[in-house]
Amino acid sequence: MLVMNQVSKKFGNFTALKDVTLEFDNGIYGLLAPNGAGKTTMIKMLVTLLFPTNGEILYDGTDITTLDEEYRNVLGYLPQEFGYYKNYTPEKYLMYLAALKGMEKNTAKQKITELLKLVGLENVTNKKLKKFSGGMIQRVGIAQAMLNDPKILILDEPTSGLDPKERARFRKLLNVLAQDRIIILSTHIVSDVESIANQIIMIKDKKVLYKDSITNICEILEGKIYETEVEIANAESFRAKYFSIGERQERDQMTFRFITEEKAIDPAWRNVRPSLEDVFLYIYQDDATLAGSTV
Ligand SMILES: Nc1ncnc2c1ncn2[C@@H]1O[C@H](COP(=O)(O)OP(=O)(O)OP(=O)(O)O)[C@@H](O)[C@H]1O
Ligand SMILES: [Mg+2]
Repeated sequence: MLVMNQVSKKFGNFTALKDVTLEFDNGIYGLLAPNGAGKTTMIKMLVTLLFPTNGEILYDGTDITTLDEEYRNVLGYLPQEFGYYKNYTPEKYLMYLAALKGMEKNTAKQKITELLKLVGLENVTNKKLKKFSGGMIQRVGIAQAMLNDPKILILDEPTSGLDPKERARFRKLLNVLAQDRIIILSTHIVSDVESIANQIIMIKDKKVLYKDSITNICEILEGKIYETEVEIANAESFRAKYFSIGERQERDQMTFRFITEEKAIDPAWRNVRPSLEDVFLYIYQDDATLAGSTV
């Protein structure tokens, strides 16, 4: 079990994370928050590239800095931006990384063949990485993080730049890997975690706001999400009155998805089930970096 205990991180006078307490057991955790919320900072502390200003991180009860090499041996990490040699084939690149990790050559070769198969790159082992699509590169990244068969796999924004098909493939792969492992992945894209993560962690104002199942997180908006049709001419005033979280135009009407705490409900409004996307938009409504969405 991996535990963060009252962890804070400051960069000079700037506080990036405050009093983060989290427990990770086997399963997939989605770290979901907008840009700049502190996801990478948290991940870098979990992989010992950064150290908490306050608090501690424990693996099976021992501080990870004390465990040092022993901890890194059970860790697999895919950085948000990972460097690779464009002229290498995936096989050569992985052999090179395996050598850096001190793996014996034959063991490495066997492991790499196995991993390239697992991530579905067994037919392109001799193709240069510069010819790979974003999704293929990402799979090479996952393969390198899996070289040491880690008990803890940490992926920082692994789905950015993937097309829908590649995303679906990635989800399947993670489900295979999740057996008997802690997987933590960060993203600012709701749809990337809602179908794969068992638990969602949301950071707001430097702190952990939620760590729960999607069903439980969505409950906070239960009975508050509605959809209704509005004449285009009245759209502006509707927007001014209600918190719109999605809009769709059809001919001369708009369908609004919106949040209201009102008790006096218009009979034309349809109460709908809250989604994680609704919660995300609601929680981060003051966040300047968020763009609008569609119903
Ligand atoms: N080395 C550093 N020195 C100073 N400030 C930093 C440093 N690293 C991160 N920060 C700041 O800490 C905050 C959190 O950054 P972080 O990279 O953890 O966010 P993030 O959630 O990963 O964002 P993104 O989605 O853009 O990757 C940001 O305001 C960032 O500017
Ligand atoms: Mg980041």
